Amino acid sequence: MSQIRAAITGVGGYLPEYILTNEEISKMVDTTDEWIMSHIGVKERHILKDPEKATSDMAVEAVKNLFAKTNTRPDEVDMLLWCGVTPDMAFPSTANIISDKVGVTNAFGYDINAGCSSFLYALVTASKFVESGSHKKVVVVGADKMSTIVDYTDRSTCPIFGDGAGAVLLEPSTNQTGIIDSMMKVDGAGRKHLFQAAGGSLLPPSFNTILKKQHYIYQEGQPVFKAAVSKMSDTTVAMMQKHNLTAENLAWFVPHQANMRIIEACARRMNFPVEKTMVNIRRYGNTTAATLPLCLWDYEKQLRPGDNLLLATFGAGFTWGAVYLQWAYNGEKIGHDLPNT
Ligand code: UT7
Repeated sequence: MSQIRAAITGVGGYLPEYILTNEEISKMVDTTDEWIMSHIGVKERHILKDPEKATSDMAVEAVKNLFAKTNTRPDEVDMLLWCGVTPDMAFPSTANIISDKVGVTNAFGYDINAGCSSFLYALVTASKFVESGSHKKVVVVGADKMSTIVDYTDRSTCPIFGDGAGAVLLEPSTNQTGIIDSMMKVDGAGRKHLFQAAGGSLLPPSFNTILKKQHYIYQEGQPVFKAAVSKMSDTTVAMMQKHNLTAENLAWFVPHQANMRIIEACARRMNFPVEKTMVNIRRYGNTTAATLPLCLWDYEKQLRPGDNLLLATFGAGFTWGAVYLQWAYNGEKIGHDLPNT
């Protein structure tokens, strides 16, 4: 019997309506469009303004989009994972909330938090259930309402992040398409450089944690930048060597969208052209768990069966990794057109 692989058979996405531009950020903190573009590469990001809407509400829109595009009925789904760093609440899991809101009633599911690497961690986890033959339709949704943990008085972090959601459907494949290999890593020693200090059992919410702004993202940019470039490119190069992947036979490099300079440095170290690198950081910023599925969503129109894709990520933890997969379907008619920006 041929080996079962887990193939991505559809992609859905959602971005909230409000667009926060660099011009608006320049009125909030001491920065400029020129600094943000040259140091990060973000022009604008989407923000979920409605205070009554949470991460799950964006995830629901992405999953509904995925169901409509793949003609999937919610009751056919047998597993749903949500991944990200901004759950609706501590418990129950955001996966449970999303499942209820979209009518996924015959499934099990849970949350995965691996910082900005959440989506690849969840994708690899979900793929094991499909490969084992136990699960046939698995939804992985990466969604984050980063605007709830960004300090809009801190110029070193507020231009980076945006809100959004992206979802994929994983199904069994026996024609060689699907996830071929993964290399996922963690090094907890990196946790001191990027975290949200309060809100958990170590520092429960209090008047003091609010005064000290400990519910916001804390990031030491330089060490995170250096580790992101070295860890992500070391892993992608190792994956390329292991599978004889080159700039010619690899159709797309799909990196986490944290900083355009990190993306370019990784592509350089891989000896890989930026033209075949998926990039949407300019319009969305870093949407944390949503960056990779939103890249696939944006580039779906250009994807063909058998295309070799290398996905890579880096995030808080530190967590990082790479996934090598073969694309399963023709995205030409299903994918959406992008604005000319
Ligand atoms: O997705 C999770 C992983 N996260 C990342 O991958 C993020 C990695 N880090 C980075 O992307 C970059 O380190 C940042 C974008 C966060 C910062 O860029 P940088 O080139 O590393 O700047 P820096 O922190 O070294 O700061 C250089 C200068 C400082 O001024 P002084 O001390 O030299 O006078 C900062 O105060 O730039 C200043 N600066 C700004 N100036 C204008 C920091 N942010 C801004 C700003 N506008 N928004």
